[in-house]
Amino acid sequence: MALLPILEFPDLRLRTQASFITTVDTKIKQLVDNMIETMYSADGIGLAATQVNIHKRLIVIDTSKEKDTPLCLINPEIISITGIEESEEGCLSVPGFFETVKRAEKITIKALNREGEAFELEAEGLLAVCIQHEMDHLDGKLFVDYLSALKRQRIKAKLLKQQRQQRK
Ligand code: NI
Repeated sequence: MALLPILEFPDLRLRTQASFITTVDTKIKQLVDNMIETMYSADGIGLAATQVNIHKRLIVIDTSKEKDTPLCLINPEIISITGIEESEEGCLSVPGFFETVKRAEKITIKALNREGEAFELEAEGLLAVCIQHEMDHLDGKLFVDYLSALKRQRIKAKLLKQQRQQRK
């Protein structure tokens, strides 16, 4: 397995629209495994392929405390949503920033698992938030897009400064 580099805001590659996966082959399974390892190593609870510069509709999630229950969603689609919930979100592509975002409270999704089998999942709470956040990545959307332009601009300026310092 291998750790994959994670793109950081405001990198424009994070704005790419991901395409559907037609065949869940060994290459995709390997990508799933590498993404799960990368997510754990970065101490994240979710990672979208977009964030590792692979523009396919694939996300991995683990909201368990023990970090032993990875969930892989290939071509995820939302079937139904109910309610509204606000919670604090962060993102491995926006390191160090946490802001309140409004999302649907409960969702039902359909997706393929790592074996390419179709399944449905009902989610609420942190898992529902996480799935919606990661699915946004596949459409080139980031949680900072829900904030005011001023807040987003501040975050962008701070991250650009950090990125410049890291390159030195
Ligand atoms: Ni994210």
